[in-house]
Amino acid sequence: MNTSSATALAHPNIAFIKYWGNRDNALRLPVNGSISMNLDGLFTRTTVTFSDSAQADSLLINNKQVYGPGLTRVSYILDIVRGMANTKEKAEVSSENNFPAGAGIASSAAAFAALALASSRAANLTLSEAQLSVLARRGSGSASRSIPAGFVEWQMGQSEADSFAFSIAPADHWNLVDCVAIVNAAHKKTGSTEGHALAGTSPLQNARVEDTPRRLEICRNAILEKDFEAFANIIEHDSDIMHSVMMTSTPPLMYWQAATVGIFHEVREWRSKGLPVGYTVDAGANVHVLCLGEYAKDVEKRLRELPGVSDVLVAGTGGAAKIIS
Ligand code: PMV
Repeated sequence: MNTSSATALAHPNIAFIKYWGNRDNALRLPVNGSISMNLDGLFTRTTVTFSDSAQADSLLINNKQVYGPGLTRVSYILDIVRGMANTKEKAEVSSENNFPAGAGIASSAAAFAALALASSRAANLTLSEAQLSVLARRGSGSASRSIPAGFVEWQMGQSEADSFAFSIAPADHWNLVDCVAIVNAAHKKTGSTEGHALAGTSPLQNARVEDTPRRLEICRNAILEKDFEAFANIIEHDSDIMHSVMMTSTPPLMYWQAATVGIFHEVREWRSKGLPVGYTVDAGANVHVLCLGEYAKDVEKRLRELPGVSDVLVAGTGGAAKIIS
């Protein structure tokens, strides 16, 4: 039996300028560019083993065998890799997260970044960072941003090959910390793949997309110049715009809970009194509260005292996806 194996590690990321809606759903080509930072300390570790004796692809997540749509989505990436490497060998994929599922951290970004890196290396392909980002994007759009290090921009691109992410500043450029306030959501949320497909039904989506270059520029400059006030204002503005689109889609998507909105008010109040904090929310009810590193302990404590907050996860800025064996 011949086997070829590789293990990769990738961090999830939090978007500051959001990706919402595709111009091509199958290829996951976005309607707008986005900016994010990787989350240090949280990771997915994935091992891919191609074998000439395996009958079919298999997937193990946190030691549990996965079948159905989860496995199909992984095989879709493996098929692309097999096409590039000119092989028909099936693979065993084993993946672990060190952050709890349903903790308000999008696990698909770290998962598909680690899968892209591990599977291409196991197939003996040497891909550039941009090619890896494109491959990860095919599994989950935001995964394209978990390939490069630190602060990352995903350019929408003109085509399949140039819609990839790149680092705009390394992880140690700015000591930003994400305190994720976990709010227990009462309803099952609509997944992002389904959500992207609904974005175009909102009459607000065109305005959001047309205005994105302006928001990208403000956010990019705020990060490069370490201007926290400008940064906090633009991430809140961008998050609110995306949720306005979600709420006005058909059918409407309402991700916020009462506690989510409660945190918005607190964060703005704290900022008006001089605490460097700002919020952003993905496709869920949990609130990512960004702050300067030296205030993280204080922010975490304040968040834990708020009604409806069941836990707080704290993460600094993380590095690139990497091969670990
Ligand atoms: O990569 P997806 O399909 O899970 O979409 C991510 C969507 C948001 O998290 C809401 C925004 C973003 O840019 O990460």
